[in-house]
Amino acid sequence: MELIDSYGRRINYLRLSVTDRCNLRCSYCMPAEGIPKLQHGEMLSYEDLYRVACESVALGIEKIRVTGGEPLVRKGLVQFIGRLADIPGLKELVLTTNGLLLGELAIPLRQAGAQRLNISLDSLKPETFARITRGGDLRKVVDGIAAAEEAGFPPVKINMVVMKGINDDELLDFAALTIHKPYTVRFIEYMPTLRDKGWNSQCMAGSEILERIGRHYPLLPLVGNEMAGPSRNFKIRGSAGAIGIITPISGHFCDSCNRIRVTASGLLRGCLFADNGVDLKPLLHGADNGPLRETLRRIVTGKPGRHHLAEDETAHGSVAMSQIGG
Ligand code: GTP
Ligand code: 5AD
Ligand code: SF4
Repeated sequence: MELIDSYGRRINYLRLSVTDRCNLRCSYCMPAEGIPKLQHGEMLSYEDLYRVACESVALGIEKIRVTGGEPLVRKGLVQFIGRLADIPGLKELVLTTNGLLLGELAIPLRQAGAQRLNISLDSLKPETFARITRGGDLRKVVDGIAAAEEAGFPPVKINMVVMKGINDDELLDFAALTIHKPYTVRFIEYMPTLRDKGWNSQCMAGSEILERIGRHYPLLPLVGNEMAGPSRNFKIRGSAGAIGIITPISGHFCDSCNRIRVTASGLLRGCLFADNGVDLKPLLHGADNGPLRETLRRIVTGKPGRHHLAEDETAHGSVAMSQIGG
């Protein structure tokens, strides 16, 4: 079974947000005042999430990325990952996490069947890290990455959201991380989050990021595979790892977008920005999976072609990234 949208894109990747809660409060992810947390009944239960995952896979989804908020803060996640891992036909089961809880959860997650981890890490300086995350402890993330390695995960991908004047002095330090370690460090253009009208002044274009790194470290382009995300990858000659660049704003990758997403509150969205979503909760009351399948198909068919952030710098996100999982 295949899911093809009206632009001919094959949709095989589901991003499943299991919670809007987080043990950090990154400035690019939520506003300073925070956002009202979902009450327990407003979130999809694991049973509901599992049902959505199974139906999605039956229709053609091959890769599921579990996101948040911070997915590891939701109780029972390891068992849930174990159930997802057993869905026949699912080829890739991966997570994006801030890494804080990996010290205790890396081994159980690996044993449950999680295949890879992407780690959000935006500064290698303790003070800057604490400033961006509004109080986070860098050491815990560094320890979390080590725990992932020890648990037998393949080398992690590190996501660094580049923010002008905040962490753009660290581009070379992040690039250098890949010289001796097999990590892939991905530099991401800053995208607008909820009510974030001044986002454009913080966003550094991917071309400038690459140029700055390339001046120091000549970069060799790498070719991607079909399941790869939106990252364009490079390598510093002779290095153990790789460097990626993710340009949702300037060179948006919508033309080859292969994904749909489910927010923590159970909204199925065809696009991160250009779609408000359909509430799945009412469809999950009865035992009949027909309406759920119909809605999955409808969201794929109606998936917007692209977002228009680059043409409209006053545009801003309608939900916080913490509610939708990036
Ligand atoms: P891989 O599958 O390992 O390549 O990961 P990924 O890039 O698909 O997922 P990840 O959660 O690591 O996200 C990396 C960055 O890409 C984050 O900043 C996300 O917000 C952003 N991103 C992921 N999917 C989309 C998307 O469909 N549209 C836009 N605009 N940004 C996205
Ligand atoms: N711009 C770019 N990337 C973002 N992420 C969260 N918010 C933003 C934003 N405003 C990234 C996080 C995480 C991934 C899921 O999304 O760094 O790695
Ligand atoms: Fe896909 Fe929408 Fe993201 Fe573009 S903005 S890559 S269409 S989800």
